[in-house]
Parts: sequence; structure tokens; C-alpha cells
Amino acid sequence: MPNNKVKNLNNAKSIFVANVKGGVGKSTLSIMLARALAEKMPPQNITLIDTDLQRTATEFLSKSNPEINIEFLPITPAFENTNISLVQQFIKQNEFRPGHVAIVDTPAGSSQRLWNLVAEGYCVLIPTTLSNADLLPTENFIRSMDKVKARYAKSYPHLIVCPNKIPFGQKDFSIMAERLKNHDVVIGPALRDLASVRHFYNGKAEKWENKSDLNAQSDFRQFGSFIEKFVLKGELDKIYSQNETRKNVVPIR
Ligand SMILES: Nc1ncnc2c1ncn2[C@@H]1O[C@H](COP(=O)(O)OP(=O)(O)OP(=O)(O)O)[C@@H](O)[C@H]1O
Ligand SMILES: [Mg+2]
Repeated sequence: MPNNKVKNLNNAKSIFVANVKGGVGKSTLSIMLARALAEKMPPQNITLIDTDLQRTATEFLSKSNPEINIEFLPITPAFENTNISLVQQFIKQNEFRPGHVAIVDTPAGSSQRLWNLVAEGYCVLIPTTLSNADLLPTENFIRSMDKVKARYAKSYPHLIVCPNKIPFGQKDFSIMAERLKNHDVVIGPALRDLASVRHFYNGKAEKWENKSDLNAQSDFRQFGSFIEKFVLKGELDKIYSQNETRKNVVPIR
């Protein structure tokens, strides 16, 4: 089946950041990932597509990292059809630009058209806290992604759950792994509950670097290295091609 072929390693990758739940850290993760990757690859090869009407990612990145490409294509009920097609087109065209990566920050909510678009990506980062209020809708979201993948017999996108706002010192993610064990997901490195990130949008984007604590810098740098290795360099593809079981959790920290 062509869909299940390991994608050409050099092809551009599209990374969606999505969850039905609001406030779980989608925009923060999109911004920080773009910034972390900009230290590892030419920033002009990175495009952040901001589909959230709130323009969080656009506002922040255009000030902090103007060298990263930013496309603002809000996906709201009013613009949904046009802009979903535009994002789709962008992702398709981008695929033929070797070494490029597109990060798509999506709005919360449960539009089926948006989920179908997300399912066309190479991978989906799903931030969530460990609280039930976030984990329950997150599981539902993963279930609907699994369904779309099964419907088209696809092994893409890779689903990566990103534990966010994790209390300091927490190292045990077995409860989360247990809850997700029937889903085809990977658990990515945890991001701690970081004071400087909590006040992220209050200050000036250009100044964040100076004010951010070392914990924040190290968590996001580690996250960037994880994405570089497992997503951009194809380590996840290798794991999946060696592993015949359909449902698995690969906790990586
Ligand atoms: N690791 C973290 N530590 C502390 N605070 C965080 C962390 N990640 C995100 N936050 C805070 O949580 C709030 C929500 O984050 P963010 O706006 O990124 O979520 P979102 O999923 O994009 O929300 P929305 O659904 O409204 O688009 C923000 O105030 C942000 O600063
Ligand atoms: Mg957001």
C-alpha cells in the first residue's frame, strides 16, 4: 500500500500540533519547537503555519525569530474551507522541498475537516497535562485520529503525546502509558510546568530569552533534539518498520 511506505527521509516533513482541548500548550509548543529547530537547521527551511485566529504564534515568532517563515491562515468556521485547502496545498508543495519542515499550530475544537487535514501530516504532536480534565478529551482526540488512520489504512501520521506542564520531579509516566496502551502513540519527552513559560505572553517576545530560566531552555532544547532525531531523521519510521504490532506505546525520555 503506497501510504504505508516509509516516506523519503529527505522529503519535507509536516508536523501538526493539535488537540481538541484548549489551553494545553499547542501554541507554546509550536513556537518553542520552531525556535529549537532554528538552532539545528537553516531557519529559512522552517515554516510555522499559524491557523489560530488568536495569532499567538505569529505575534511571538515574528518578533523573536523573524528569520523563520510564518504563514497566518486562520481556520475558523467562516474561513474553514478556503484556508484548510491552502494549508493542504502548502503541505503538498512543501513535500518536494528537501530538508524543509512545516509546523502547524491548530486551534482547539473538534472540526472534522480540520482532523482530516491533520491526518494528512507526517506527525502530530499532542500536548496534554496529566490531569483528567485534559487526558480524557486527549484520549478521545487520539481515538478519532486512530479511526481516520484506520479508515485509510495509513501508518501516518505518527502520533506523539507530549506531556506538558508536568510538576517538577515527576519522572513516572506509567499511568499515562497505561491509559494510552491501546492506542498507536508514542510518548515524547516531558515539558515541566515552567514559571517563565507561564508568563510567556506577558512580556516582550524579544526579551524572553533573557528572562527565561535554564529549566525552560533545557526542556525545549531536549524536545527539539527529540524531534530532530525521531521525526526529522526518521528514527520513528525505523521503529515502526521493525515493529509489526499495530498498537504500541514507545515511552521515550
Ligand atoms: N510547560 C508550561 N509551563 C507553564 N505554563 C505553560 C506551559 N505550556 C503552556 N503554558 C501556559 O499555558 C497557557 C496555554 O498555553 P497555549 O496558549 O500554548 O495553549 P493552546 O493549547 O495553544 O491554547 P488554545 O487552545 O487557546 O490555542 C499559556 O498561558 C501558557 O503560557
Ligand atoms: Mg493556541
